[in-house]
Amino acid sequence: LTLTGRLLTASNATFVGTVETPDGPVEIVHKPIRGERELWDFPTGTLALREVAAYRVSAAGGFDVVPYTVLVEGPFGPGSAQRWVEADEEIDDLVDVVAPGDLADGWFPVLEGESAEGDAVVVAHADDPRLRTIAVFDALVNNADRKAGHVLRSSADRSGPLLACDHGVSFHVDDKLRTLLWGWAGQPLTTAEQAMVAAALADLDPVAELLAEEEVLALQERGARLLAEGLPRPPERGPAVPWPLW
Ligand SMILES: Nc1ncnc2c1ncn2[C@@H]1O[C@H](COP(=O)(O)OP(=O)(O)O)[C@@H](O)[C@H]1O
Ligand SMILES: [Mg+2]
Repeated sequence: LTLTGRLLTASNATFVGTVETPDGPVEIVHKPIRGERELWDFPTGTLALREVAAYRVSAAGGFDVVPYTVLVEGPFGPGSAQRWVEADEEIDDLVDVVAPGDLADGWFPVLEGESAEGDAVVVAHADDPRLRTIAVFDALVNNADRKAGHVLRSSADRSGPLLACDHGVSFHVDDKLRTLLWGWAGQPLTTAEQAMVAAALADLDPVAELLAEEEVLALQERGARLLAEGLPRPPERGPAVPWPLW
């Protein structure tokens, strides 16, 4: 593992680097545990483990929204390594801030606000099945930080697959879903989504290595709730969206 740079906008010490593999070099994002910012609500030194657990849930369920992520030993000690996605920064066809009158047909308004100039704005997202898969995944892993910038489009093809990054604050035992993707709140899961949730819960040993026992139980409970009740609704109290939003 060779580090080649640091992401200065990241809230933790987050590096980009290269891992040599038998198939050639792979570009990665590396988050050493030692570089994790202390949070009041998550136990110290666990964010990298949550990154890997999120990948395992995504892969086991067939959500396939998290790039390949493993634990590695880096120059600053243990941490996570996630395959780098060459992302298209323009995702305004998926999530956007618009004037209320400009909300496109079929888009879901999530949040109303005011621009720096004092004009009314709406944060909204498209009714896109790829975003919905991420929304179901986030509800399952209890993602507390689904910003617009954590949705990655890997190709110039706008209909290509979407991936998602930054799952360091997932799997808390308390409900902490903070997302911009509330458009489907309260809707029942489709048969395909039910199958993904069930597949993700079928064998929890791979995530039990990474999470506390009560966090694995909470994951099971959230899965059961998703199957029985559909996608959660935003809480009446407490934050429902991440900050910053992007
Ligand atoms: N696997 C990845 N591929 C491409 N870009 C990524 C990847 N992981 C993170 N990023 C980019 O780097 C930024 C910071 O990474 P993030 O995981 O959000 O770190 P932090 O936990 O410090 O907030 C992200 O907002 C995203 O733009
Ligand atoms: Mg982040």
